[in-house]
Amino acid sequence: MATAQKTSAASYLPEDRDLESLEAAAGVCRGCSLYENASQTVFGHGDSRAPIMLVGEQPGDREDIEGLPFVGPAGRLLARALDQAGIDPELTYQTNAVKHFKFTRKNGKRRIHQKPSRTEVVACRPWLIAEIEAVRPQVLVCLGATAAQSLLGTAFRISAHRGEVMHLPAEADIHVTPEPQVLATVHPSAVLRDRSERRDEAYGLFVDDLRSARSAMAKRKRA
Ligand code: URA
Repeated sequence: MATAQKTSAASYLPEDRDLESLEAAAGVCRGCSLYENASQTVFGHGDSRAPIMLVGEQPGDREDIEGLPFVGPAGRLLARALDQAGIDPELTYQTNAVKHFKFTRKNGKRRIHQKPSRTEVVACRPWLIAEIEAVRPQVLVCLGATAAQSLLGTAFRISAHRGEVMHLPAEADIHVTPEPQVLATVHPSAVLRDRSERRDEAYGLFVDDLRSARSAMAKRKRA
């Protein structure tokens, strides 16, 4: 008899919802099939009380090896952009919408990133929600469409709303007080991949969006 394909991490959530317990439980998650080929679960990392939470798509090759988010080329670009936007990385918690690396092999060797499917994003969402509820960030920054659509719905388009300070829609079913402000921007890999003459401009716009996140955080602090 064929085994039913698992489609949610929900049944792997631990009773204690602190980050340490969540990370340990996510380490043995079989909520979708991505764990089969990845080296390990890459859970979020950073200050458990960080005012800014950055949400990417999924770990890449380097992250899969090291077990930490944003330690590869996209992470280096992100670190530089955070610095230019005046955001201390110590004030951030960095995570991904999907916690396992999805890839195909090129010539049987190099691992090439593959975009996670909607089913995989939905399956992994309980971990992301639990992280948001544990950290209670003032500002949530979605880096790219996968993160944005996981939290803001599949109709959300970064091109129409990038850099806008928004709220989580009721359908997101995330219960955090005070409610985080949400902002979406492009994924740092999109800036890295841009080989056109507009790459500097793309990078500048990315930094501008991070500056908007920083000012949203500053306003929230003053309120
Ligand atoms: N890209 C992501 O979305 N997340 C990472 O952690 C690394 C690259």
